[in-house]
Amino acid sequence: MPKSTYFTAGPDGDNIYTVTAAAMKFGAGALAELGADAVSLGMKRVVLFTDANIAATEPAAVAMEALKREGLDVAVFDACHAEPTDLTIKEATAFCRDGNFDGYVSLGGGSVMDTAKAANLFATYPDDPLAYVNAPIGGAKPVPGPIKPHIACPTTCGTGSETTGIIIFDLTEAKVKTGISSNLLKPRMAMVDPTTTHSLPAGVVASTGFDVLTHAIESYTARPFTTRKRPDHPSQRPPYQGATPYSDIGSLAAIRIGGAYLERATLDTDDIEARHQLMFAATLAGLAFGNAGVHIPHAMSYPVSQFNHEYRALGYEKADPMVPHGISVVINAPAAFRFTAKAAPERHLEAASALGANVSGIDPADGGELLATTLIEMMRKTGISSGLAEIGYTDADVPRMAAAAFAQKRPLAQAPLEITEDDLAAIYQGAMRYW
Ligand SMILES: [Fe+2]
Repeated sequence: MPKSTYFTAGPDGDNIYTVTAAAMKFGAGALAELGADAVSLGMKRVVLFTDANIAATEPAAVAMEALKREGLDVAVFDACHAEPTDLTIKEATAFCRDGNFDGYVSLGGGSVMDTAKAANLFATYPDDPLAYVNAPIGGAKPVPGPIKPHIACPTTCGTGSETTGIIIFDLTEAKVKTGISSNLLKPRMAMVDPTTTHSLPAGVVASTGFDVLTHAIESYTARPFTTRKRPDHPSQRPPYQGATPYSDIGSLAAIRIGGAYLERATLDTDDIEARHQLMFAATLAGLAFGNAGVHIPHAMSYPVSQFNHEYRALGYEKADPMVPHGISVVINAPAAFRFTAKAAPERHLEAASALGANVSGIDPADGGELLATTLIEMMRKTGISSGLAEIGYTDADVPRMAAAAFAQKRPLAQAPLEITEDDLAAIYQGAMRYW
C-alpha cells in the first residue's frame, strides 16, 4: 500500500498510534472449542450471558456442552435485553457479585456482550452506573484495572462488540443512550463461529450487516490520527485515535466483503457462504473501528433509536417495537457522507469503489455523492427503510434530534471535519426520504 498523504503529522500532531486487539478465533464449529479456551484463560466458575431467545437455540446448547465437557462450573444469566439499561446492568451485576465468578462468557448480539462487559466491570469494581461514563453525563472515572477474563461469542454479524472495549447502554431516567469505553473492557477472546448466524431472519442480517458497513466506512473516513495533538503522556492517547494505517486495512477489507456479500446474505437466507463472509467482515470492521472509532452516522443514530418506540423492523417482530441499531445508523449514513466528503473526497471515492461502485471517470470531488447513492441502492435492494420519514419522524423532530446528536461528543470527535448542531439538523433533513 503506498504511503498515504492522509497521515501527515503537523508540528504538534501525533505520529504514534496504538493497536489493541483481542485474541480471536474464527471458523465454523469454533464454539465447540469454547470450554478448552475458557480453561486456558484460567476460568473455573463461569457465568454464561445470553438472552431468552438464544438460550433455546443450537449454539447455546453447543456452548454449554463445550463448557461442561471441560469440567467448568457454569451458571446461566439469560435475562439480557435488547438495548441494555442501567437497570438491567444492575440486575446482571447483582447476579455476578452473588455468584463470585472467575470467568465470563457471552453468547449473543451486542446487547448481550455489552451487558456481560458491564456486569464484569461493576462486579469487579462496584460503583455507580454513571461513574465510568464520559463527562459531562458521567464521572469520567478511568476503569481502575483489569476485569475478569471474558470470551465473547457473537451470534449476529454486526456490532463487533466482541473485539471492542465499549459498552453502550440507556440511562432509564434521563432517557439517554450513553457509553463506557476502555481498553480494559475488551474481551480476552472473540470466539466467532459463523454457523451461529444460520437461523437469523433476513431483516436481522440486513440491519446488522449495514452496521458492519457503517463501522468500516466511518473508520475509513474518520479524521487521521495525525490531526490529534501528540499527548504529553502515552496514557492520554485516547482509545479512539482516528483512522490509522492499521485500521485502514480492516476497514477497506470489510467494505469490500460487505459490498460483495450483504445483498446475497440478506436476499437468500440459504446462502451460507455469504453469511460466513459477512461475519468475517464484522470481525475485521470491529478490529478497525475499535482502534479508529466511528463518527457522525453513529452519533446521529442514538436519537433515532431513543425517540422512537413504535417502529417494528422486518426480522424483529418478536422484540418490543424499536429501531434496530444498524437501521438507526445506516439511515443517516448517505446524508452524512454527502456532508463529510469535502474533508476527504478521495477516501469517500475509495469507499464507494470498495463497495462495488464503478468509479472510472469519476472526479474525486463526487466521491461522497457516489458513496451515498451506492449505499442507498443497497438499502433499497435489501428492504431497509427509505428514510427517517418511513420510520415515523417528521421535520418537527429534527431540532431535538440534532441537539441530542450534538451531545454525542465521543463519536463526533472522530469526524473528519468540525460539525455544528445546524449541520446535524441539515443531515437529518437530508435523511428523511432517499427514494
Ligand atoms: Fe454500530
